[in-house]
Amino acid sequence: MRLFVCNTLSLNFSSKLLHSRPSPSPSPVRFVAGAASDERERERERERERERERERPRKMSKAGALDLASGLGGKIEKTEVLSAVEQYERYHVFYGGEEEERKANYTDMVNKYYDLVTSFYEFGWGESFHFAPRWKGESLKESIKRHEHFLALQLGLKPGHKVLDVGCGIGGPLREIARFSSTSVTGINNNEYQITRGKELNRIAGVEKTCNFVKADFMKMAFPDSTFDAIYAIEATCHAPDAYGCYKEIYRVLKPGQYFAAYEWCMTDSFDPNNSEHQKIKAEIEIGDGLPDIRLTGQCLEALKQAGFEIIWEKDLAVGSPLPWYLPLDTSHFSLSSFRLTSVGRFITRNMVKGLEFVGLAPKGSQRVQDFLEKAAEGLVEGGRKEIFTPMYFFLARKPLSERQ
Ligand SMILES: C[S@@+](CC[C@H](N)C(=O)[O-])C[C@H]1O[C@@H](n2cnc3c(N)ncnc32)[C@H](O)[C@@H]1O
Repeated sequence: MRLFVCNTLSLNFSSKLLHSRPSPSPSPVRFVAGAASDERERERERERERERERERPRKMSKAGALDLASGLGGKIEKTEVLSAVEQYERYHVFYGGEEEERKANYTDMVNKYYDLVTSFYEFGWGESFHFAPRWKGESLKESIKRHEHFLALQLGLKPGHKVLDVGCGIGGPLREIARFSSTSVTGINNNEYQITRGKELNRIAGVEKTCNFVKADFMKMAFPDSTFDAIYAIEATCHAPDAYGCYKEIYRVLKPGQYFAAYEWCMTDSFDPNNSEHQKIKAEIEIGDGLPDIRLTGQCLEALKQAGFEIIWEKDLAVGSPLPWYLPLDTSHFSLSSFRLTSVGRFITRNMVKGLEFVGLAPKGSQRVQDFLEKAAEGLVEGGRKEIFTPMYFFLARKPLSERQ
């Protein structure tokens, strides 16, 4: 109804304009034709917006069981999913894999991981694939958005800034930060399937003109030196085979005097590398989350300094969070708003995936993916409880104005 009134108003307004303007020379016909084509273009844009509105509830997140099944395996051929799962598993400690091999083959290992799990992530978690510290009374979704706004605030984002999101997933944070701060955000990601999905979501959200995706490895980006006004990374640079190499590349593409902020996945100082239980938790997180190795907070800090950054401040944001970040994965916790992550929700999903795989709607190997995601959840909850692991080691770093500064 409101749309109809708006359309009628704008038609009246433009026809008034047509009649009140002095006759343009040399050709009034061309003017009228031009105005009519402007109006046609406006009508086309309104139609596109109506189309986006109609699609929004259906497509914003891949919410249904069939969406989960159809996206499973990402860009991997459906018949190859099971063998991809087996190859992925062999990279990891539980199947005899070694750290050096994971690092040497990080592109294959990480891409296989995200092809296999993205549809599960979107089904259970939404469009942003990260954790957040949480206040009492705050929903998981609210805490996730606040965690994204916090980065924008720390970076001092201003309208017009050209921002880079390193390891951007399907672009949940990118869309939120771009809208929150009126900036243009480029997301870099090495996973083709996630980029395809991200582009579709950008279009539905109507941010496709200001936000874009680039398919590339963040260890070797194709941007010229000093391109961006601000850079952030959310739970992504943990996939890098070497922190120094990754931060150095980020340093290169950041303008001098500007800021880089991130949430890193790290083992904390409480982690004991000689404790077998700690080792098991670390290995569970590595296989469940596609990681070559999980670095200590101190190693990340050292790598930042070596890359040339000045550290403004850093803190493990898990410390002092009123509600633990791992609460949504804790099977002893129940929540209606994030029901799919609870033990009952996971039980239902497990059986649903089993059924879908049995009838051939989900590819063979789907259940195996869910198994290593369950392993991840166990490792994450235990790592969080014991405070030996954090997914939110925050730092704000600055590239000095000159190398000598
Ligand atoms: C846990 S997801 C986080 C995604 C996003 N930051 C978010 O919070 O929604 C990690 C992301 O890093 C990307 N990634 C991992 N290794 C990468 C690499 N070498 N180059 C570019 N992207 C990479 C993955 O494809 C994935 O999108």
